Amino acid sequence: MVLQHVPGQLSDAAKVLERCAALGEISEEDGLLVRRYGTDAMRRANELVAGWMRAAGMTVREDAVGNLIGRLGDGDRTLMLGSHLDTVRDAGRYDGPLGVMVALAAVERLAAPLPFAVEVVGFADEEGLRFGTAYLGSAPVAGRFDPAWADLRDADGVRLGDLLRGDPATAARDDLLGYAEVHIEQGPVLERLGEPVGVVTAIAGQSHATVRFDGEAGHAGTVPMDARRDALAAAAELVLAVEAAGVTATVGRIDVEPGARNVIPGRATVSLDVRDPDDATRRDAVRALHARAQEIADRRGVGLAWPGTADFPAVAMDERLSAAWGVATRLPSGAGHDAATMAAVTPAAMLFVRCRGGISHNPAESVEEADVAVAIDVLERFLHAV
Ligand code: GLV
Ligand code: MN
Ligand code: MN
Repeated sequence: MVLQHVPGQLSDAAKVLERCAALGEISEEDGLLVRRYGTDAMRRANELVAGWMRAAGMTVREDAVGNLIGRLGDGDRTLMLGSHLDTVRDAGRYDGPLGVMVALAAVERLAAPLPFAVEVVGFADEEGLRFGTAYLGSAPVAGRFDPAWADLRDADGVRLGDLLRGDPATAARDDLLGYAEVHIEQGPVLERLGEPVGVVTAIAGQSHATVRFDGEAGHAGTVPMDARRDALAAAAELVLAVEAAGVTATVGRIDVEPGARNVIPGRATVSLDVRDPDDATRRDAVRALHARAQEIADRRGVGLAWPGTADFPAVAMDERLSAAWGVATRLPSGAGHDAATMAAVTPAAMLFVRCRGGISHNPAESVEEADVAVAIDVLERFLHAV
């Protein structure tokens, strides 16, 4: 099949881009895009999208964790389409919202009812920015809300449980016949292949950890260099070890205490994100980094706290559902997606849309209107092929 846009159908894609732009204006902060779970910005984004859903003839509700769900048609079985509406800090406008808007555009094209109900979901939290959770929006839908999450607190002390609208267990679904998610690729593969879209084969596994070095604070001008127990210097060594770990690994955040120019860092806390398509390779890399962190700490006379590593195995997409995209190009995903969680309860499939330069988690995120038009066409055909 030749994947190119059909002239005359660009207007749907233009509308998707306009809607992503409108959502991109809804932020917690002026001058940059950030929409975290349970914030007023999320509420306003949901209201805007709910209006578009109602105009498309859908009935709209929010579940107990705040996922926005528009439903069209009847039936005991439901095909769920969607992605997330929360963002990272200083985000682009397409990571998440593009998938919700493409789903809505495909539903808007439906001329006759399908033999099953269709839902478009805007998950309330995929990025985990506020509480450090993974898939807070989709996990309860897959029946996987961790009760311990209710007691998590954000940087301002707000308790996650106080933002819930009901028992997260009520968000769980057992009526789904599948989940399909369109998302920007967030990498360079489709651009290199010269393809507008591609089918995701599997979503790479992830390890997350928060690692703390405890040294000794002291005067930057008086403590001799050979008598220091500098927690940040230890963390810096670990950062370089992470970079050389041989897997896809990132330290995205370092918190230094007390955090002053003239004070030797007494404590340094680093975030760790390790990914690989192969779970054994990823776990081996984490074990090696843990051993390395201990060696660094012992050599420098600082304490190490590594309270645990969250482990999210790699998830294969469903072969049969993926065939319904009718697209030959296939590629794995290094990024995490709600489809990884949804795959626990229903066949899940993903379609990636080429993005410029593979840039994502960055305000420079960009997609071509023609590629979005292809994605809408492919999803429209998918709905009839499922
Ligand atoms: C989500 O964007 C992730 O892959 O971390
Ligand atoms: Mn993201
Ligand atoms: Mn995303």
